Amino acid sequence: MKLSLTPKLSTFLKPSLATNLRRSVCSSSLSRPPPTSLKPQSPLFLRPPIHSATSSDLQKWHDWAKTLASSIGSTFADSDNGPDSTLLCRELKWLIDDAIEEEDEEEIENDQRKIRLRVALEELYLLWKQRIQERRPFQYIVGCEHWRDLVLCVQEGVLIPRPETELIVDLVGDVVSDNEELREGLWADLGTGSGAIAIGIGRVLGAGGRVIATDLSPTAISVAAFNVQRYGLQDVVELRQGSWFDPLKDVEGKLAGFVSNPPYIPSDNISGLQAEVGRHEPRVALDGGVNGMDDLLHLCKGAAFMLKPGGFFAFETNGEKQCKYLVEYMENDAGGSFCNLSIVTDFAGIRRFVTGFHK
Ligand SMILES: C[S@@+](CC[C@H](N)C(=O)[O-])C[C@H]1O[C@@H](n2cnc3c(N)ncnc32)[C@H](O)[C@@H]1O
Repeated sequence: MKLSLTPKLSTFLKPSLATNLRRSVCSSSLSRPPPTSLKPQSPLFLRPPIHSATSSDLQKWHDWAKTLASSIGSTFADSDNGPDSTLLCRELKWLIDDAIEEEDEEEIENDQRKIRLRVALEELYLLWKQRIQERRPFQYIVGCEHWRDLVLCVQEGVLIPRPETELIVDLVGDVVSDNEELREGLWADLGTGSGAIAIGIGRVLGAGGRVIATDLSPTAISVAAFNVQRYGLQDVVELRQGSWFDPLKDVEGKLAGFVSNPPYIPSDNISGLQAEVGRHEPRVALDGGVNGMDDLLHLCKGAAFMLKPGGFFAFETNGEKQCKYLVEYMENDAGGSFCNLSIVTDFAGIRRFVTGFHK
């Protein structure tokens, strides 16, 4: 989790390819409802094209939206590292890709080409105003984010998964590749949010491998369940709501591994975050207490109880300072329960993750 929302490499794909990737998974089963009463919002690209607009009305909206985006220049970038008008114009293009249903046959009405839309034209005006004037994150506008090879549904109340977090799945992939006991074992993703890490891990484990994904937030559990179902992993990833280790009492000492990207931003830093993050993403997903370490330390303390001998853990942190603190804690205060402790660098060269094994 970084302090800003940067576009993902995968979203730079040509629109048609990005659209195809999305559509290739959207047909997967949604037969069983999520195990909570909250119904997640449907992302734009999964909505039926029940609206329409003439090409000239859509062009008018597009011209208005582009002018609004261009008027921003570098104002947001200068104030809090937010998006500049180049990025906003790119987002506008992606919004159009998601909103329009491409048709082979054209429908003509009063000499005007009619375009089928997944969202009413009036809502497109509203959505773009929210993007620019309220700095509502683009991912909440379209209701999804590309992460690894997944397209994950997201909405307000759920953290938008960040690119650097993708590496946690690779770290797990590495340790299970030559260790059958870990590959076929029981894993946990604590604070699962959209379910990103749990789904990623669920896909690298062997046939016998299982993941329990937990979160305090009912909205997160509901959205994660939606994403798990979309990828057909209901038999691999189990969702449980509750605080950290509370929902895992029945599996104490039985986990082959557990991972977490907990809230780790120091409370005082929240107000200085990019508006898209600080104003719109859930505080419970960001705020790690006075020095950002409250949840990380809690997780470290529980690791020895939860993991079976030889079990693996990986935690994401704010950077070098938190990594060093955790490693020192695990070496000196955690009663010598761990071995092979490492600090792993993310794609941007930031020392980001702490990993290790239960002795
Ligand atoms: C930084 S977000 C990570 C979300 C997701 N794993 C990801 O990487 O995109 C932290 C998550 O921890 C959850 N969380 C915060 N406090 C928690 C607690 N006491 N118990 C369980 N989950 C908690 C938040 O709701 C949020 O989903």
